[in-house]
Amino acid sequence: MVTVRYKLHCLLVLLLVSGTLGGQANRNRGHEKQTNSFRKAATGFYQTLSNVFGEDNVRAVQKFFSRMTERFVFGVDVLVETVWRIWTDLLDVLGIDANYNELYQWSVNFYPEFWGEFWDFSGIVYSQTYDEVVDRSKSIADIPEWFKGSRLNYAENLLKHKENDKIALYAAREGKEDVIKVTFGELRKDVALFAAAMRKMGIKTGDRVVGYLPNCIQTVEAMLAAASIGAIWSATSPDFGVNGVLDRISQIQPKLIFSVEAVIYNGKEHCHLEKLQSVVKGLPDLEKVVVIPYVSPKEKIDILKIPNSVFLDEFLATGKVGDQSPQLEFEQLPFNHPLYIMYSSGTTGAPKCMVHSAGGTLIQHLKEHILHGNTTSTDIIMYYTTAGWMMWNWLITAVATGASLVLYDGSPLVPSLNVLWELVDRLGITILGTGAKWLSVLEEKGLKPCETNSLQTLHTILSTGSPLKPQSYEYVYKNIKSNVLLGSISGGTDIISCFMGQNVCIPVYKGEIQARNLAMAVEAWSEEGEPVWGESGELMCLKPLPSQPTHFWNDENGSKYQKAYFSKFPGVWAHGDYCKINPKTGGIVMLGRSDGTLNPNGVRFGSSEIYNIVEAFVEVSDSLCVPQYNKDGEERVILFLKMAKRDMFSKELVKRIRDAIRLALSARHVPAFILETLDIPYTISGKKVEVAVKQVIAGKEVSHRGAFSNPQSLDLYRNIPELQNF
Ligand SMILES: *[C@@H]1O[C@H](CO)[C@@H](O)[C@H](O)[C@H]1NC(C)=O
Ligand SMILES: *[C@@H]1O[C@H](CO)[C@@H](O)[C@H](O)[C@H]1NC(C)=O
Repeated sequence: MVTVRYKLHCLLVLLLVSGTLGGQANRNRGHEKQTNSFRKAATGFYQTLSNVFGEDNVRAVQKFFSRMTERFVFGVDVLVETVWRIWTDLLDVLGIDANYNELYQWSVNFYPEFWGEFWDFSGIVYSQTYDEVVDRSKSIADIPEWFKGSRLNYAENLLKHKENDKIALYAAREGKEDVIKVTFGELRKDVALFAAAMRKMGIKTGDRVVGYLPNCIQTVEAMLAAASIGAIWSATSPDFGVNGVLDRISQIQPKLIFSVEAVIYNGKEHCHLEKLQSVVKGLPDLEKVVVIPYVSPKEKIDILKIPNSVFLDEFLATGKVGDQSPQLEFEQLPFNHPLYIMYSSGTTGAPKCMVHSAGGTLIQHLKEHILHGNTTSTDIIMYYTTAGWMMWNWLITAVATGASLVLYDGSPLVPSLNVLWELVDRLGITILGTGAKWLSVLEEKGLKPCETNSLQTLHTILSTGSPLKPQSYEYVYKNIKSNVLLGSISGGTDIISCFMGQNVCIPVYKGEIQARNLAMAVEAWSEEGEPVWGESGELMCLKPLPSQPTHFWNDENGSKYQKAYFSKFPGVWAHGDYCKINPKTGGIVMLGRSDGTLNPNGVRFGSSEIYNIVEAFVEVSDSLCVPQYNKDGEERVILFLKMAKRDMFSKELVKRIRDAIRLALSARHVPAFILETLDIPYTISGKKVEVAVKQVIAGKEVSHRGAFSNPQSLDLYRNIPELQNF
């Protein structure tokens, strides 16, 4: 550790010296002879450096600093600009051109140095700096502590933007013309008031505060207030039923819950108070229930039946001292202090409660926003998400860059399919994030936003939730916008961030996520635990990352945590996704969950490989591919098709699909059965649940139906005649 740092330090000094040499050479340009002799000298010098430190190290460090300098230069003074010129000239003379892959390799090999550099570069606000970035001798399975000794506050970092009158939040809702705007100044004031009221009722560092809330302004304010105190925030969206909420939140014993009285989705008003009442009954440690009038005025809402309940305005009034607005105070906490508790989908057992640190979440999200997304204070960013999905947490951190956030609550297809594109034009959104599913719905419906909307401000479209199909890339570039960065991103709740995703430095290839993100040591591994390139394998992460959970709640000895990620291959993180890394482009193709992996006839593949082919058929609106096993453990593959219209399912269609799969993949990929289904089960956050159907066709029960948005669809898979007697 010490020697690497020391070496790096020496290297930096030497590189600076060489930078000055480069400047002299520049002034002498035009004198061919002198340049030549400089080139020789520089090459010799470079050789010497390489001999001492290793060619790869020297190159990597140069790459890194050229990138870092490039960003730093932006808006800084002329002196720095001159130094930058000198530096790029040196690279030019040495014949080195920067490339993302080399920077990536450096960031993975030297991950403590990378994160240390990024700590400075990102401008994180802290009251005490760190003693050590991370202990390099620890593996990802040791869950090392990051930035030990530092003190900071997540909320302080998000509220640091200085222009009081700039808009921090826009909130738009289904069926409402008005978009609410909140400036940075107002946001700080509101958060101070929420926090004062929380402190008044006794919320302290480490207490759990939960939201059963839509994606609205108060959700952001309550979360920031909790974070300013060092309380832990956890949220579920109003579409969760009572069991789904209690399966999650009862595990963490919250003291305070925020909720609304009703929500509007898909043109319908859904009353929320009855569900809230049942949830509150199941939470014995709750001291206060704060109800936010969301659809109706407070006069029309009856909360008497809910114990310890108050309306938001009454709650906030307790935070005021006379007429004075309370001051914002930010507890200064260790980097690994808990910020969020997030939940696994819970489709196969009780949801696991993952605890994410304030510092880890912050620095990882900043890396993705600033380096990968080039997000700045000029951006207006929206992600279509509920407040219960990790993309919400990811979106909110973007406000730390000074960007404005757009919160949207409602259906993305109501009142018209164009609703989000209208919003892009109306607010000047520059980055729009969505789910892959939404894009394919728009495609199916033949929507052409390029003809109806200007979308002039939009520079990035992000997609996640499920793999983005190759045909969706064509759809976006042809029918939405041609000059846009289409970033498919992938990671998960487990790391509250992405392993791979959008990247402003490199091209987009159809069907591929652009690249692995900096300092994410991701590989695809075979069953034997060997890295494979250009072939499908298990998504593994080999090195520690600051945003891995610090622990699971109610997992004293860490056995649940170890089992969740490290039981497949000891000491390395198995994410449970199946993917393929293209060695030529560095791009990644996601192939579905690895528990959805199929292995009939000795060929192993991901369900998405089938979906990509099948869903290109206009007759098919959705599909689901699962294995079925007989008592000898032999496997066959069943493909279920949900048709776009009734009566579209036919023998002839089945034959065409079989032929298409045989042609595109192989005869061994062709499913044993192709059957029609009326519905396909999805989780509330929009993920197709193969593993549950696998259980049902094996005759097992699915115990946690609360995790599904359409649990009754599971019953469609019980006792299917064609699947008996295997
Ligand atoms: C990054 O953003 C800045 C300002 O918004 C813009 O000028 C620049 O071109 C962007 N860079 C890339 C590589 O997209
Ligand atoms: C950890 O604790 C759980 C229950 O609390 C127990 O079942 C398990 O055996 C323990 N594991 C180890 C390795 O101690």
